[in-house]
Amino acid sequence: MKAQELRQAWTEFWVARQHTDVPSAGLIPHHPSAPMFTNSGMMPFVPYFIGEEKVPWVPPRASSIQRCVRAGGKHNDLDEIGWSPRHLSFFEMLGNFSFGDYFKPDAIRWAWEFSTEVLGLDGDRIWVTCHVDDDEAVELWVDEVGFPIERIQRLDKDNFWEMGDTGPCGPSSELFWDFGAEVGPDGGPANPAAEHRYVEFWNLVFQQSFRLPDGSLRPLESKNIDTGGGLERILGVVDGSPSVFTTDELAQLVGEAESLTGVRLGRDAQSDRTLKLLADHARTMTFLVNDGVIPSNEDRGYVLRRIIRRAVSFAYLLGVETAVAPALAQRTIDLMADAYPELRSNAETVLGVLGREEDQFRRTLRGGLNILDGALADVDEGGELPGSVAFLLHDTHGFPLEVTTEITEQRGYGVDQAGFDVDMAEQRRRAREGGKKGAVAVGDEADAFAAVLAAHGTSEFVGREVFELEATVVGVVPAADGTTSVFLDRTPFYAESGGQVGDTGYLTGPGFVGEVTDTTYALPGLHRHVVRVTEGDAPSVGSTVDAAIDVARRDAIRRNHTATHLLHWALREVLGTHVKQQGSYVAPDRLRFDFSHFEAITPEQVRAIEDLVNHDVLANEPVRHFETTKAAAVDLGAIAFFGEKYGDVVRVLEAGPHSTELCGGTHVRRTGDIGPTKVVSEGSIGSNLRRIEAITGFGPIERIRTEEAELAAAAAAVGVPRPELLDGIDKRLAELRDLRDEVKSLKAKLATGGAPDLAGQAVDGIVVARVDGLSRDDLRSLGVAVRDQPDVRAVVLIGAPEAGGVALVAASSKESGIDAGGLIADAARAVGGGGGKNPELAVAGGKDATRIDEALDLARTAAGIA
Ligand code: ALA
Repeated sequence: MKAQELRQAWTEFWVARQHTDVPSAGLIPHHPSAPMFTNSGMMPFVPYFIGEEKVPWVPPRASSIQRCVRAGGKHNDLDEIGWSPRHLSFFEMLGNFSFGDYFKPDAIRWAWEFSTEVLGLDGDRIWVTCHVDDDEAVELWVDEVGFPIERIQRLDKDNFWEMGDTGPCGPSSELFWDFGAEVGPDGGPANPAAEHRYVEFWNLVFQQSFRLPDGSLRPLESKNIDTGGGLERILGVVDGSPSVFTTDELAQLVGEAESLTGVRLGRDAQSDRTLKLLADHARTMTFLVNDGVIPSNEDRGYVLRRIIRRAVSFAYLLGVETAVAPALAQRTIDLMADAYPELRSNAETVLGVLGREEDQFRRTLRGGLNILDGALADVDEGGELPGSVAFLLHDTHGFPLEVTTEITEQRGYGVDQAGFDVDMAEQRRRAREGGKKGAVAVGDEADAFAAVLAAHGTSEFVGREVFELEATVVGVVPAADGTTSVFLDRTPFYAESGGQVGDTGYLTGPGFVGEVTDTTYALPGLHRHVVRVTEGDAPSVGSTVDAAIDVARRDAIRRNHTATHLLHWALREVLGTHVKQQGSYVAPDRLRFDFSHFEAITPEQVRAIEDLVNHDVLANEPVRHFETTKAAAVDLGAIAFFGEKYGDVVRVLEAGPHSTELCGGTHVRRTGDIGPTKVVSEGSIGSNLRRIEAITGFGPIERIRTEEAELAAAAAAVGVPRPELLDGIDKRLAELRDLRDEVKSLKAKLATGGAPDLAGQAVDGIVVARVDGLSRDDLRSLGVAVRDQPDVRAVVLIGAPEAGGVALVAASSKESGIDAGGLIADAARAVGGGGGKNPELAVAGGKDATRIDEALDLARTAAGIA
């Protein structure tokens, strides 16, 4: 069966059962409870599972084919890749979902129907597992589909699925395929020794709880269905292959890896592993870049970097000296662009990012291997590479530890993992101290927040239209730092999100004044007002307060936020559409925008960007902010401001004629409200990552004032009126140049003025003397002046000039017949230098001023006056 056939059969099956087919979301998840990557089909639907957003489909069902990465966070299969026949860091998950609609009976019946009727699997070779506490599921398997109870096994943790450390979760029931006695022992999926024989191909999760940050479970309001089956595993089952690497697209990628390495599958275990790893990583890196991840040293970017580096190093160890990543990505795009058309439009960016990252790594790879070889030479046979070396390779040469381990193992050594961990922990500790992280609610506080949410639901945010209102206090939670978290039924306070800072302001009530110093989300949808009580006592639950935001501050934030959108558009206009947002920070005093781009931005480009933005500002066009469906937003050409937003209802912001993006922030009403926009800095913040900062509104005016004051102070210092400042500075510089020349010639005169005195020291008509502090030129002039004194036949002067080092000069009169060069040849060598051989006037230089006196003696010897 081909991948595309399975995709089609899947979608048709569920659409026929009133499911809405939902396209795959990106790999960067956005829900606050989500882990690093989209790791399963359910993740884009989190807001529906937990009742945070209204399900847009009637009936509330969906199906999808979701691209997933399991390479970081809770579900991380990276270490298995290549060794395991069925683990992948990138895969496609087939899923059907019910949001409080159908539950276990239908989910089980339909899974059976699809497996046996659509896929045509032999039901006698299927096994099922259920959670130890879930009698209901076992009964349903028996009653609904007549499944034999002997092939149902009950497990504990293995039948409880969780999205991440926090988030929706619930008991599950899994379907396994028995690949037969030739693959492993009997005993069903519960026998760990038979894991290659009984392969899980479909997981039905009964989503009914939410895991809170403190580890406890809260029941969800609705009972939901979330199922997931790996597309590649199902293809393997249909084709009778326990390995996913023989299925359609992966087999072709293994073929690509074979042709890149010149090694064929089946040579040895090590190279087989590499070929499969390359096939797997090809898709992971291609899709991560496609979805906006850029290699870096942090978070997702770091995982991507590790994946690229693993692929490159393993290929290198098979002897591949040329680039592999772009070819693997190109093949992935060719194979998968029909299912994911955006791969085609992003191809250039993907190949460029991967190519550059690989080039950069290859440059350090060889140096790192030399270090490794050097270090291993000092290790006894069978011994361990010191952890500090493994860490150095990791830290400065970018060797993932598993690459170092792999190489050392191949050569018969181990790695001191504990030593590596110590260095790594120390580095992490330093990094933690360096960066400040927002406080995370723990223990009692987290429970209290969850209780407020459970009792009152999410807060109603009305702060787009209203800046002050009467609200009812629905929760009050004291914090350890002396502040109080206050929760309201309705609020004008924007909670920090999407890069926009939280609002500040005041809550007041009878006998109580509290300053709101920040607003954040305690839990998704729950606004937490961080309050410092300045008068009276904190308000009690049920009381009414007046809630007012600092409007001037909010206005400044709005200007900066809308300007960020115009800037994003202008960056793409001027630099190209590969520019993708990687982060932003919108505060009252400035805006910051991080984006992918591969080289410095020229001053001309910055001007062009500023001009585009200010042009749209001055056009004073309306800014429209409205809710619509995701499909309509796509039709409008909206670009997702930071990856994609969840759910089907999205907020679109149209700022003037050019900028259309998804955004949940707060914005101005017309572009003219932004006021002048000025870029104030631009620079690199990592490989392929740049940061631009700008100011708007009163900001540029303030800046002009500051600069005017600085210029006035400069004019006063130079002593000219402000308009003549540049001329004034030129004049001052010219004066300075003249004075320098004068000093120089005075010094020279002073120097030659000493010539008669030096001549007086002559022995047998030859002067040998030390003169420090003169430049080489001045020493030379002095030497000539001494030689020209009456009765002097030759002269040698050696000294330490102010600029450092040693200067030597020798001069002789024509009549004397003395070879000037010969006089200082030995002396110059003594001070670590060399120089002129001219018979009448020789100059030389040296380095070691501590040996000048010795050099003078050598000159006297050469002159025969020692
Ligand atoms: N969310 C479940 C899984 O990923 C279906 O296995």
